[in-house]
Amino acid sequence: MKTLRTVAELAAWRASAGLDVGFVPTMGGLHEGHEALMEVARRAHACVIASIYVNPKQFGPEEDFSQYPRTEERDLERLAQASVDAVFLPREEDMYPRGRDQQTEVFVPGLSDELCGVWRPGHFRGVTTVVARLLGLVSPRACYLGKKDYQQWRLIERMAADLALPVAIVGVPTVREADGLALSTRNRYLRPDERKIAAFLYQTLQAGRAEIWAGLPLPTVEEGCMARLRQVGFGPEYVAIRRADDLQGVSADDRQLVILAAARLAATRLIDNLELERSVALDGGDLQYGRKTG
Ligand code: PAJ
Repeated sequence: MKTLRTVAELAAWRASAGLDVGFVPTMGGLHEGHEALMEVARRAHACVIASIYVNPKQFGPEEDFSQYPRTEERDLERLAQASVDAVFLPREEDMYPRGRDQQTEVFVPGLSDELCGVWRPGHFRGVTTVVARLLGLVSPRACYLGKKDYQQWRLIERMAADLALPVAIVGVPTVREADGLALSTRNRYLRPDERKIAAFLYQTLQAGRAEIWAGLPLPTVEEGCMARLRQVGFGPEYVAIRRADDLQGVSADDRQLVILAAARLAATRLIDNLELERSVALDGGDLQYGRKTG
């Protein structure tokens, strides 16, 4: 595995890598969720490159940029084990050569300021700006993102479409612990008692999905999930049911939905989501929502 630490080193590697390159951007602190992305890319491409860059521009002033886990040695071992061909570990001057505030920014309007965007102002601007530059530098055929960060995935998909970037944006299913907790670098902030409660986030989404299938009105489901999260000790930021493909509000005939949630457990912020398919049958003017039968 080649370790590339500057734009020049990346450019030299890229020139010899051929057309069929798959790319997995990360911030390090790697776990099996990241590895799943590498595996999917590995199966699809002749060449796979990952990046590790803790992007300061996507952290708010009160957020955990300085304490974010930096585990480079272990990360490089994991990437080598996953048969990744190269890893790009840029310095700040490689990503922001004009300085963080002078660099061209990429901003997806609307969706960037909703859901997590309400609670993390500027976060998605930082994400789309850094991913746009990474895509320019790496020029991959496809870029692999986790559905764990559902809104991020959908925003990057939209950015690539709007800018006509010649890259396929691929969403990979969330990898979970046995009790359902989505793997996340930030899970290592959880104390043992918090770790036990954390699994309840996914269980709440599953309960919400059952209620949607049972025909409860969506706002009732959202409020019920919020209340349950509060009961077990979370400080929920939002629970929202949206159309899966563009995260807009749900219309009567939308079938592919996603329940998204963000909640705090003491100092740790957790997010999760669950896609679901709703079948809609029109019956004498009444809408009946039910589980798809086949
Ligand atoms: P990071 O949090 O390191 O995540 C890198 C990629 O791994 C993202 O696409 C994320 O969705 C995916 N991922 C994380 N946990 C996962 C899990 N349990 N299952 C499946 N995929 C998972 O997301 C970022 O970094 C940054 O915002 C980045 C896109 C690199 C831009 O800085």
